Amino acid sequence: MKIFTMKWFASAAALTAALLSGCDIPPQESVQRGYRGTGMEAIYSPEALQEVVAANQVPDAIPAVSSEGPKAGDIYQNVQVLGHLSVGEFTRLMAAITEWVSPEQGCNYCHVPGEGFETDTLYTKKVSRVMIAMTQNANENWDAHVGGAGVTCYTCHRGNNVPEYVWTIGVPPRHASGVVHQMQNVAHQESNAYASLPFDPFTRYLLEDNAARVAGDTALPTGHESSIESTEYVYSLMMHYSDALGVNCTHCHNTRAFAAWDQSNSERVQAWHGQQMVKEMNNAYINPTNEWLPAYRQGPLGDAQKVNCATCHQGAYQPLLGANMLADYPNLSALAPVAAPAEPVEEAEGVIMSGEAN
Ligand code: HEC
Ligand code: HEC
Ligand code: HEC
Ligand code: HEC
Repeated sequence: MKIFTMKWFASAAALTAALLSGCDIPPQESVQRGYRGTGMEAIYSPEALQEVVAANQVPDAIPAVSSEGPKAGDIYQNVQVLGHLSVGEFTRLMAAITEWVSPEQGCNYCHVPGEGFETDTLYTKKVSRVMIAMTQNANENWDAHVGGAGVTCYTCHRGNNVPEYVWTIGVPPRHASGVVHQMQNVAHQESNAYASLPFDPFTRYLLEDNAARVAGDTALPTGHESSIESTEYVYSLMMHYSDALGVNCTHCHNTRAFAAWDQSNSERVQAWHGQQMVKEMNNAYINPTNEWLPAYRQGPLGDAQKVNCATCHQGAYQPLLGANMLADYPNLSALAPVAAPAEPVEEAEGVIMSGEAN
């Protein structure tokens, strides 16, 4: 009997250890983020926080160069978005872009050796031109979201050809019986933090122009359009917001009234601007690149890989923990003065072209 008890204790202890291994090790710390008694606090583990800090270091910048001297536009043959930089600044930015996007392949990821740097042979170069304009536009026109820190290619790419967190329009998986699954209850979908909610909230809210609404604003359900289905999509999006930023719902909401803007934190307003910015990135910049993307860079429905909150945030409440990305790269802080947007931007119709439209 005694032996049995010991064994039982041992296996119970092992089971407990196994179950707890997924949890953060105490002590936890908490920070109050809203009025007392509203439960608006953030609970975190200092240990987990250390990992986030380690994963969010910005590489050293290339030494700055003079903005004096001849302009790239006067010297080079085919510069459409960086012509206003000095030749020195231009070369420095090419070197930085190489470090951020193609450190292994080098300049040849976008330029064909022996062919001359001016040709647009590779799709990667054409995509980069769009990306440069997209980055400059975010910094110039989306102060309401990225202001204070700004973004460079590194914010999303971090040394990868394609950023680690991107998405394409969701297709429900097919069951072995031939039955097509619904858009939800699909196992292992990172997009909504592994919830059983619809796994593609992005098409509705980060591509199409829908407001994420659940609550009605009248006592009776007159004219209230949210369905159970759309509600599930909103919650799925919210799971992504929280997961992408590594925060809880209370980072933005007072959970006694999710819908009430006047009871929410200012971060929720910043998030709303982020949502509009991401929509613009996906519609005005990224979707048009699809014309030249190779099939292996497209989703199952043939669309380009797109931006969501995780593309920049990557689990941090501010990308790279709020590091000022423009201090070392002011050349990316605004679009070229002559307002010469890359061709694909002009082709996109019916999309908001600048943050001011909001
Ligand atoms: C990730 C893509 C990418 C990488 C890597 C890259 N470039 Fe470029 N490069 C571009 C783009 C885009 C342009 C056009 C910019 C514009 O339209 O204003 C360009 C233009 C140029 C031009 C101007 C050519 C002309 O006459 O129009 C030179 C010179 C150049 N790059 C040199 C380099 C060098 C040297 C490296 C490596 C240190 C490099 N680039 C790495 C994307 C890249
Ligand atoms: C907001 C996030 C974001 C920023 C900032 C960003 N990119 Fe991208 N980049 C993406 C996404 C999403 C894709 C995939 C879509 C595509 O291929 O058009 C991509 C794709 C690319 C590709 C294609 C790579 C391949 O192998 O197919 C290149 C090259 C590239 N980006 C260069 C740049 C450069 C250069 C900058 C900075 C001037 C930059 N990006 C800034 C999100 C970003
Ligand atoms: C980063 C900030 C942020 C986080 C974190 C966040 N939300 Fe939201 N939430 C928003 C924004 C912004 C909107 C409004 C979006 C819009 O207007 O399209 C919203 C809308 C909502 C709505 C709809 C309110 C209405 O008007 O009917 C609900 C419900 C909601 N969130 C629940 C949640 C839940 C549950 C969580 C945690 C899983 C969460 N949110 C996490 C920012 C956030
Ligand atoms: C292009 C990169 C980029 C994308 C994409 C992006 N953000 Fe951000 N976000 C930033 C930057 C940079 C900051 C920091 C700005 C600052 O210093 O206040 C930030 C800050 C925030 C903050 C303030 C956090 C705090 O506590 O200070 C919230 C909330 C937020 N983002 C939500 C979102 C949501 C939600 C999405 C997706 C709809 C999103 N972001 C997409 C770049 C991005």
